[in-house]
Amino acid sequence: MDTKVVRIDQQHIDRALIREAGGIIKAGGLVAFPTETVYGLGGDATNPASSRKIYEAKGRPSDNPLIVHIARMESLPAIVRYVPEAAKKLAEAFWPGPLTMIMEKSEAIPKETTGGLDTVAVRMPSHPAALQFIDASGGYVAAPSANRSGRPSPTSARYVEEDLGGRIEMILDGGDAQLGLESTIVDLTVEPPAVLRPGFITREALGEVLGQVEQDVTLFSDDGGQAPRAPGMKYRHYAPNGVLTIVRGPAEEVARYINDGLAEGRINNKKTGVIATDETIGGYKADVPRSVGKRRDINAVAKGLYRILREFDDEGVELIYSESFDGDGVSQAVMNRLLKAAGHRMIDV
Ligand code: TXA
Ligand code: MG
Repeated sequence: MDTKVVRIDQQHIDRALIREAGGIIKAGGLVAFPTETVYGLGGDATNPASSRKIYEAKGRPSDNPLIVHIARMESLPAIVRYVPEAAKKLAEAFWPGPLTMIMEKSEAIPKETTGGLDTVAVRMPSHPAALQFIDASGGYVAAPSANRSGRPSPTSARYVEEDLGGRIEMILDGGDAQLGLESTIVDLTVEPPAVLRPGFITREALGEVLGQVEQDVTLFSDDGGQAPRAPGMKYRHYAPNGVLTIVRGPAEEVARYINDGLAEGRINNKKTGVIATDETIGGYKADVPRSVGKRRDINAVAKGLYRILREFDDEGVELIYSESFDGDGVSQAVMNRLLKAAGHRMIDV
């Protein structure tokens, strides 16, 4: 299959292109599109055959449910058994935006879309091209991140093409993703509601609207033998080909530990990489040094992380060390993804 890649200008969205993309979805095809978090691989959420195609194109296990993207609040009632009060409040506060809510599904959404579950994940993205595309597609676009299963989520159309070129009908290229990490997922089918995946909408922000909000205990550890409540979180996502270790502690000791590790890597003829910040990057001797920006700018860290992990793969890096980014809020989302990429390999110095 030839994949048509078209550029979408956010300021002047070409309506004819959006209509064409929507027509592909309505006909059962697949279109990758930009959102404010990461690129999505879209198909008709109400069509079981489309969802099967999504799993196939990604090489993704079919028990891993898809997020249904909508463009307006009026679209919600048709796909859920009922709209919980909490969903109305959260939508008011955070939609359109990087928040996904889990609710009980209606008959309109087939089990192929929800990986066999009776619940459905719903999100209204804020990217203007995404909203127009969802409307043109009939209102319900199932979309996982547009990467091959096991690779970092794509933050630019170039990476979508690398992973899915030849497997899908079209890619809408809207430039670099603004946020760079996937949406926060909150489960509204449990009391109190629970965060299943941390993101830019923090647990504290959700708590301000809803009162008590819990956090899935499996988000920051891999022990305890408990399965994560978002099925996708159990897979070793975001994994670079090289062995990644996170090093946490006082800056000087972190630098010493990482430099020792890099030196040993060199002796063993391993290609090395490091993830550090503008403040510290000059102190590391790695083949592929990468700064995520200023340490205090956690949004920049979030935005650049997946691109850097992909660059390590492109450069054939075998041994990677990363500084740690502990803290509240968005740091939690960054550390959740980084820990998964590292297979939870973290050293305290
Ligand atoms: O920012 C995002 O959410 C991006 C963009 C494209 O919107 N999408 C995305 O989708 O990250 P995906 O498929 O890569 O991640 C969806 C996550 C998976 O971990 C999946 O298991 C979980 O959401 N999920 C979906 N439906 C669920 C449900 N009914 N119950 C529990 N978890 C669910
Ligand atoms: Mg994904």
